[in-house]
Amino acid sequence: MQREQWGTRAGFVLAAVGSAVGLGNIWRFPYVAYENGGGAFFIPYLFALLTAGIPFMILEFTLGHKYRTGAPGILKALNARFEWLGWFQVMISAIIAFYYVVVIAWAISYVYFAVGQSWGDDSNAFFFGEFLGLTGDNAPSSLGGLQWHLLPPLCLAWAATYYATYRGVRGGIEKINKVLMPLLFLLVLVLIGRIVFLPGAVDGINWMFAPDFSKIWDLKVWSAAYGQIFFTLSVGFAIMLSYASYLPEKSDINNNASITALMDCGFSMVAGILIFGALGYMAMAQDKALTEVVSSGVGLAFVTLPAAINLLPAPGIMGPLFFLALVFAGISSHISIAEAVTAGLMAKLGWSRARTSTVFCGVGFVVSLLFITQGGLLLLDLVDYFINNIALLGSCLLELLLVGWLCRLEDFRDHANRLSDFAVGAWWLICIKYVSIAMLVVILFGNILGAF
Ligand code: PFF
Ligand code: NA
Repeated sequence: MQREQWGTRAGFVLAAVGSAVGLGNIWRFPYVAYENGGGAFFIPYLFALLTAGIPFMILEFTLGHKYRTGAPGILKALNARFEWLGWFQVMISAIIAFYYVVVIAWAISYVYFAVGQSWGDDSNAFFFGEFLGLTGDNAPSSLGGLQWHLLPPLCLAWAATYYATYRGVRGGIEKINKVLMPLLFLLVLVLIGRIVFLPGAVDGINWMFAPDFSKIWDLKVWSAAYGQIFFTLSVGFAIMLSYASYLPEKSDINNNASITALMDCGFSMVAGILIFGALGYMAMAQDKALTEVVSSGVGLAFVTLPAAINLLPAPGIMGPLFFLALVFAGISSHISIAEAVTAGLMAKLGWSRARTSTVFCGVGFVVSLLFITQGGLLLLDLVDYFINNIALLGSCLLELLLVGWLCRLEDFRDHANRLSDFAVGAWWLICIKYVSIAMLVVILFGNILGAF
């Protein structure tokens, strides 16, 4: 049977960007940048993009294009003893798929809440108390009961992913991304267009970009930059390998990979402007220092920003638009995470796409119920921490060691260059074999030592 293929080049790039641009760009990047020297962070960040992000993306596109199968099959083709690494990557993706979808479900609920700012004056109490059913003094010691109100949005999020992976590359994934991605960019532009003109917004933005050059000599800052790059580009855990395995024979790998990586980082900058614009405005309106309002992750999206939305003009419009953007960014990433698992299982078991996606989404739905319980948030934090700080980086490191040191890396460079507009030179080999690997070792061991 002929392997499925992307319909158009733009369709593939949009799907790859859709995967890369996710919750991480909106709630992780601005904070990481701010914490690590603001404007000065962009130097390590750009350096990481050029020396690790783009080379890694080129590598994964090349491997997918060359071997045309799921991640386990690709790694097995590289070295028969490394199929397990492909399954490890598929497992990481599956685990991420189980909890990432829950955050999307929260965001869907918040689109609705945002219309009338149902969170009221105390967005913190609303989120943790009313919404998640947690109260300060009786932190859950067990999972507790299901939060039934989260079931409908959870079903909705799974339905989108199921539709995409069931319909397949061209009729599902590509089609959805071709709608979601332009809408996402439009939403973010509309939000920014309004927010930058609010008082205080420019202070917030300036402050994020204000360089603290003293930090540039700090290894922690460099490790944060490389960590953010691996995380944000969805490389190293089966995703880009799978998407690239559907590339047509004639595809400009180097160009597509660079565009994907640059668009993701471009989106991060834009998201940073949006978030810090809103925080700057909020600080001004409440007469607080910016340091008192800045936050990241779940707290930023579901506590701080709702409070900021209360202060905006036309909050009933801006609020839903913001959460809709979060939903779109999340769904397009979730689809890619689920496809990485689907592609791997399909190739191994010889099942049809319909059957594989039905089984995975069915099982996935049931497992994700764990995260819409009272103990769900705690569990989510725990799993997310180990996945992002240990498993994902370990997987990236092992993949690069395998490709860089046990394979002939030059062959892959030649494969990519033969098809591409511009050729990559020796720098690419150096970035993969030395720079990326060295940085991964530093970050991984830094995390492990910090973690235990
Ligand atoms: N690259 C996406 C993001 O930045 O949000 C998707 C993603 C990366 C999801 C890593 C989950 C993850 F652990
Ligand atoms: Na990203």
